[in-house]
Amino acid sequence: MDTGQLRNRLSRAGQDHLLQFWEELTEPQRRELFRELEAMDFEELNGFFRRAMDGSDQAAGQGKVDDARMEAVPRDILGSTSRDREELDAWEREGLLHISQSRVAVLLLAGGQGTRLGVAYPKGMYDVGLPSHKTLFQIQAERILKLQRLAEERLGRQCTIPWYIMTSGRTMESTQEFFSKHRHFGLKKENVIFFQQGMLPAMGFDGKIILEEKSKVSMAPDGNGGLYRALAAQNIVEDMERRGIWSVHVYCVDNILVKVADPRFIGFCVQKGADCGAKVVEKTNPTEPVGVVCRVDGVYQVVEYSEIALGTAQRRGADGRLLFNSGNIANHFFTVPFLRDVVRIHEPQLQHHVAQKKIPCVDPRGQPVKPDKPNGIKMEKFVFDIFQFAKTFVVFEVLREDEFSPLKNAESQNGKDNPTTARHALMSLHHCWVLNAGGHFVDENGSRLPAIPRSATRGRSEFISADANHNLKDANDLPIQCEISPLISYAGEGLETYVAGKEFRAPLIIDENGVRELVENGI
Ligand code: UTP
Repeated sequence: MDTGQLRNRLSRAGQDHLLQFWEELTEPQRRELFRELEAMDFEELNGFFRRAMDGSDQAAGQGKVDDARMEAVPRDILGSTSRDREELDAWEREGLLHISQSRVAVLLLAGGQGTRLGVAYPKGMYDVGLPSHKTLFQIQAERILKLQRLAEERLGRQCTIPWYIMTSGRTMESTQEFFSKHRHFGLKKENVIFFQQGMLPAMGFDGKIILEEKSKVSMAPDGNGGLYRALAAQNIVEDMERRGIWSVHVYCVDNILVKVADPRFIGFCVQKGADCGAKVVEKTNPTEPVGVVCRVDGVYQVVEYSEIALGTAQRRGADGRLLFNSGNIANHFFTVPFLRDVVRIHEPQLQHHVAQKKIPCVDPRGQPVKPDKPNGIKMEKFVFDIFQFAKTFVVFEVLREDEFSPLKNAESQNGKDNPTTARHALMSLHHCWVLNAGGHFVDENGSRLPAIPRSATRGRSEFISADANHNLKDANDLPIQCEISPLISYAGEGLETYVAGKEFRAPLIIDENGVRELVENGI
């Protein structure tokens, strides 16, 4: 251990406080701290800090983004599952064709800490309490399996959808163990590729790196936009090229309804010749806290809800919809050549965003402190930071109730985006699928349960060609307990043989073992 050299480097970078407890540390603690600090490039970190703070000051100085600078997504680059229904089959065919040619991969962002959910393991391992008790990882894996089979059936070709999984120092080991334990949920091991994003130290507002313990720096993953640096560091784009992949669907671990490698989305983006695409849901409430995809100063980006002037957020178009209504759900399409350019050319230009946080630390005497107000920043890049580099950018609007229900928070009464809302969203959708396929639900007396249209003006949620357009939800708005295995249906297709003309009592499960009404309500 050359501590002298380390001390010099720290001193040059104004970070020498990191060794302030050195004399008090045990030998193993010293070795650990030395190892951690030795690997850090302090000049680079100081540079990141300065640029991130400058960017944040500049944004604060400019105030909220308003009409003068913002343009809504023009209709000619927008595809919509509810407004362009006559196109859906063609997009789907195109997407399935690409999938059948093994040209499509999916990439999961699973490096987050999930602090709001507050469990000690990666979010993808979470069981939201479905009848099957499947975890988010398993649901996604089975959707991939099913989509491979669907493409094979339709196009008569065996295919593979490789699954790239980005983890972080906090999630890598347990995620890999979980996949091994579950034999990769039936996927071939060589087609599930793990890679790890970087971590950055938390810093005080004065630019000093924060010690979490006397011998430990406070580290956090560098945001989901850390993806691009990680792709470069681990030669992932090269792996995609070697496999002949043309396009990648990137998504977040926490959306229980995510349509991995959605053929319609892929097909739409491919037909439009896009190199970059964003899936969105319609924002209907001006103050809903969701980022909006739009153009600012002529460049496509996501503007966070807190950055938009209220008057601008409230503006409506001629059709009565909010003008800035493309709610970002972190579901993106990128071509591999685009990713190659991002990794090779653009990534270093991306600057970190500043997130002010309450960061547990030690005081000058080495005592642990849990601050009650923000005491520093974490630096993060965002996955959508690269929209600005797209040559042909497109937006694909889908129905929220079909495709978006994120798991962010721990359970709480009347809470939002928690295990209950995720579970209900999935069961409510599967209930609709049963109705769309001609099945019915009855109560304990055998009377059919009343159902009302989910939204009279909205599109249907069928996958391919069910004629009935029920798209229904039960009247009292509590979901009927109904779960359909992704191995049986990817998006509601193919259920007629199981349910048409039949009556069911919930809870209902349809899986590889057939159609089962669970006698006991286990939820
Ligand atoms: P969130 O921003 O919701 O963060 O991540 P989170 O870590 O899941 O939860 P909180 O904020 O700590 O409560 C959105 C997606 O981006 C991934 C997450 O795993 C999730 O899929 N992510 C986030 C990363 O992959 N890396 C990161 O550094 C941050």
